[in-house]
Amino acid sequence: MASRAIEDSLNAEPREPLRVAILGAGQLGRSILAGLARSQARDAIELAASTRRSCDLGPDVRAVSLEEDPEANRRLAARADVVILAVRPTQTMALAAEIAPHLEPGAVVIPLAIGISAADLEGALPPSADVVRAMPNLSVELRLGVTGLSAGPNASTGGAALARDLFELLGTVVVVPEDRVDVLSVVSGAGPAYAYFLLEAFTTAARALGFDERAASSIMLRTFRGSLALIEPSGRAPSALLAEIASPGSATERAIAVLREADLANLAQRAMEAALERAAELRTSAVSLADASFA
Ligand SMILES: NC(=O)c1ccc[n+]([C@@H]2O[C@H](COP(=O)([O-])OP(=O)(O)OC[C@H]3O[C@@H](n4cnc5c(N)ncnc54)[C@H](OP(=O)(O)O)[C@@H]3O)[C@@H](O)[C@H]2O)c1
Repeated sequence: MASRAIEDSLNAEPREPLRVAILGAGQLGRSILAGLARSQARDAIELAASTRRSCDLGPDVRAVSLEEDPEANRRLAARADVVILAVRPTQTMALAAEIAPHLEPGAVVIPLAIGISAADLEGALPPSADVVRAMPNLSVELRLGVTGLSAGPNASTGGAALARDLFELLGTVVVVPEDRVDVLSVVSGAGPAYAYFLLEAFTTAARALGFDERAASSIMLRTFRGSLALIEPSGRAPSALLAEIASPGSATERAIAVLREADLANLAQRAMEAALERAAELRTSAVSLADASFA
């Protein structure tokens, strides 16, 4: 079923689709596009996207590149109900300043950048814009994403609800206070990277035990996929299932003992803390770049 705010927008007279513009369709922007194109509300949404260089974003998207039309971002923003800023952190404030004079009153602006606060964005946009930060991960492409949302200090309730309804089409939404958005970026935003890192490590180990690359990849991928499929409906903690599988005296217990020596939980925490430090650096460079360009 289409989400409430999106249905409301459809039920409004005249019956118009919700116009969503994704500015800077790179890795994450394209995943969002693909997820929305697959969603049950597809017919209720008009998708448009900008890129820097010409490229094919599929038949369902009105795609415009800056190469073809240097005004692309301004034009798309001017006719959008929801504008998603999907460029890199250092590019976000300049893009906001560029589109600010062209936004429709009441447009919902959703920055994805790590390190840029909603208040920073509100300062660059007209007061009528509703800023809602979103921190999705790449699984939005299959509508299995986890997206953290945080409404800016001046966002309206309707704008926040619309952002939530939109991202609920793409998976799970977690509403968080602003100071948790960057934390979430290193927990779930970077999460697919952690999963692939572990998968790669165990695949390499399987190869070292004599499986060829294709067999090792396929075996480990399906093993991870099946294991995650088992745990979710069980509602049980990983530690509970682990205790059952790694039973005393078993070969699995011996393997897990070796992994415990590496203190992976501590390593994971250090990895996330390192990513958080980088998020702070990105904020500093994005804001100083913006200050320099507005000086
Ligand atoms: N990737 C993730 O998993 C993830 C997760 C959470 C949050 N984020 C955030 O999401 C944002 C996008 O990340 P990403 O990984 O998708 O980055 P990306 O792949 O580099 O995508 C950004 C795209 O925007 C284009 N671009 C730059 N300036 C533009 C402009 N003025 N108009 C139109 N297009 C422009 C870039 O083109 P050029 O390459 O030619 O510059 C690039 O294709 C970042 O702010 C990041 O912090 C990403």
